[in-house]
Amino acid sequence: MTADQDPPAAPGGGQPGSPAGPVRLWGGRFGAGPADALARLSVSVQFDWRLAPYDLLASAAHARILHKAGLLDGTELARMLAAIDDLAEACRTGRFRPSASDEDVHTALERGLLERVGSLGGKLRAGRSRNDQVATDLRLYLRDQARTIVSRLAELEDALIGQAQRHAAVPVPGMTHLQHAQPVLLAHQLLAHVQAFARDASRLRDWDRRAAVSPLGAGALAGSSLRIDPDAVAAELGFDSAAENSMDAVSDRDFAAEFCFAAALLGVHLSRLGEEIALWSSQEFGWIEIDDAYATGSSIMPQKKNPDVAELARGKAGRLIGGLTGLLTTLKGLPLSYNRDLQEDKEPVFDAVDTLLAVLPAMAGLVDTLRFHAERLAALAPAGYALATDLAELLVRRGTPFREAHEVVGHLVVWCQVNDCELAEVSDEDLARVSPLLTPDVREVLSVSGAIAARSSRGGTAPSAVAAQLARLQEDVQGQAAWAAS
Ligand code: ARG
Repeated sequence: MTADQDPPAAPGGGQPGSPAGPVRLWGGRFGAGPADALARLSVSVQFDWRLAPYDLLASAAHARILHKAGLLDGTELARMLAAIDDLAEACRTGRFRPSASDEDVHTALERGLLERVGSLGGKLRAGRSRNDQVATDLRLYLRDQARTIVSRLAELEDALIGQAQRHAAVPVPGMTHLQHAQPVLLAHQLLAHVQAFARDASRLRDWDRRAAVSPLGAGALAGSSLRIDPDAVAAELGFDSAAENSMDAVSDRDFAAEFCFAAALLGVHLSRLGEEIALWSSQEFGWIEIDDAYATGSSIMPQKKNPDVAELARGKAGRLIGGLTGLLTTLKGLPLSYNRDLQEDKEPVFDAVDTLLAVLPAMAGLVDTLRFHAERLAALAPAGYALATDLAELLVRRGTPFREAHEVVGHLVVWCQVNDCELAEVSDEDLARVSPLLTPDVREVLSVSGAIAARSSRGGTAPSAVAAQLARLQEDVQGQAAWAAS
């Protein structure tokens, strides 16, 4: 079942509740059908249809709870469950689709049920409302999608970790302000992205604990007098508990906003990686070659190879952030409890899910197939006097106050700039001329591998520290994948 089945046209009037005509859930109170303009404004089935499998799941659970409460007898329950099964199958195969007169997924499925079991279908309405139903469906849907997203995210993390492993000894110019700062291992930089993604995964897992509360049983807003058991239905649907407050259950969408935030921040993290890959692939950087399968050409310039995947990852962060801010704005100032404004909760979260599920596999493929120019990276790593800090720290170890050491090395850098050479190329005499502290043996620290190896404390860029970091991340990613499969 997909979300993109034909958007139904505006529903018109019809016999309320008749299986043949449009299903209207409030028919009894109204003489005339809704105005076309109202129907057109109000219809949501074109986007909420994707909740159908979850709505049916919740309906089956609700039917069992009605049976427990003595509101459906055994035969009725069996007929109801068979009809729900059949409807679910019909939805899967596309045999049942929303029609032009269905307002939303709940109305469409009620029509499907009435078509199958006649008036018995109407019994399912007891003790629940679309208000608790839709909040339940959305939680079920998002809890599923969070797992799929984490699983795709773990694949991207695996791709980054794989590149880190394949380039365990390759140095790159580490940057601040986009200027060469200090050499680091390429692996260290790639794993910095994995660290952020691992937190994104843990944010979704953490979100899931708060989302695991079932609104069913809240009814329209006040709960039900029909002695139905919200805890039983919650357990059946895989929730940890039922809501403590029926008004809260139908009115808050913090779970949707929080999901959008987790998605938006993941989008921001993806955009940083996208930006780096776009930079690295430029002529000016020349760090990487993007595989043909993940690059695009130009319709006019035959030589072009463009990093569109990386750019789209960067660009899509905008819509994820927009979805979050839009949803927060919708929620702001709403009085309790349910208001129709809440129907606007769905498109931003659906868009967030679709966006991430499109970006993540493309980024995983892009990263996995990147070719790094190791020799160029090694040559660039010390450029821009990136070992100056190492020299200053050596002087400090020899007793010079850092302030003075900083100044001495600063003078040396200027000397090198004027004379167009690298730090390690300065002669013994010239070193001494810049400062008597700069004895010939200071050159020992002027090697990229030495500078990198020296930073071996936890979190540093030394090969030993990076290997330990990588091992911890691998374990983390395995945990994410296991959770996603749960
Ligand atoms: N389509 C509606 C939504 O998404 C379902 C709930 C309608 N409830 C109501 N009282 N009109 O919010």
